[in-house]
Amino acid sequence: MPTDVVANVMANRRLSSDYNVLTLAAPAVAAAALPGQFVMIRAGRGHDPLLRRPFSVFEVLRDRDGSPTGISLLNKRIGVSTGLLYAARPGESVDCLGPLGRPFSFVDPPTEAWMVAGGVGLAPFATLAEALRRRAVTSVLFYGARRAGELFHLDFFRDLGVELVLTTEDGSLGEHGRIVAPLERRLSSHPTDTPVMVFACGPEGMLAATAKAAAVHGRACQVSVERIMGCGLGGCYSCVVPMQAEDGGHHHVRSCIAGPVLAGDQVLWE
Ligand SMILES: Cc1cc2nc3c(=O)[nH]c(=O)nc-3n(C[C@H](O)[C@H](O)[C@H](O)COP(=O)(O)OP(=O)(O)OC[C@H]3O[C@@H](n4cnc5c(N)ncnc54)[C@H](O)[C@@H]3O)c2cc1C
Ligand code: FES
Repeated sequence: MPTDVVANVMANRRLSSDYNVLTLAAPAVAAAALPGQFVMIRAGRGHDPLLRRPFSVFEVLRDRDGSPTGISLLNKRIGVSTGLLYAARPGESVDCLGPLGRPFSFVDPPTEAWMVAGGVGLAPFATLAEALRRRAVTSVLFYGARRAGELFHLDFFRDLGVELVLTTEDGSLGEHGRIVAPLERRLSSHPTDTPVMVFACGPEGMLAATAKAAAVHGRACQVSVERIMGCGLGGCYSCVVPMQAEDGGHHHVRSCIAGPVLAGDQVLWE
């Protein structure tokens, strides 16, 4: 069940001139959150922004006894709300509603989990990688960013035993180029009798290319779509995504309640 809380900012760690990790005290949200779910956050106390904005749950924080105490958000500053979240100070508060949406579906061995993240699309994969580790699933993170300074949390994934495949658009770390290139090579060379589930989150062009590559190689793929969301609760239809219908036609789903995680081969990519 989602809860709506006024969450205190416990910490704000700047990662770069655009990215930060904001830690919020929200035990009830943390206790219920599943990998891939999101929260609707209202930053600031004035009329701008009027509406909440969606953010993936990045980390679930726990005390020494293992009890959930809060969540963190991996925030990328692009506008009003994300600017306020970048500037937020400990002791301030934000409105936090969640967890919301359909989470990732887990896999078990021998199926391998290949996570594909573009930029801030890394956010849902920290909790997913922890869950996969508990299930002893062999996991790979394909992670692309613009430059080396925008590839975050690498040791966290390494410590979980996740293999890292990195790309940067300027070639400053990992392979030069986009993350779909090494993914396609690995899909081409991987033994067909080893099952793989591809999980993807990032810009829509990356999601479309990932879903198409997975389909070409006969691999299942779950994508987490990032549409503009007005309510996060199914009421405003600002977040619709066109999907294939069983009769061969198409229909639209509200990605805040049918997603954000959707079957990659059923989304009609534009
Ligand atoms: C399910 C979900 C999970 C998300 N998780 C995260 C996360 O973990 N971390 C994070 O930093 N961001 C995340 N986002 C994106 C985040 O919600 C937007 O960046 C945010 O709404 C922008 O708000 P703003 O007030 O700063 O920008 P605004 O001032 O409202 O807009 C600035 C510009 O960004 C464009 N824009 C706004 N929202 C989006 C969007 N969703 N996609 C593309 N362009 C957009 C606007 O059209 C405008 O041009 C997520 C989005 C969804 C749907
Ligand atoms: S965000 Fe309002 S219906 Fe999805």
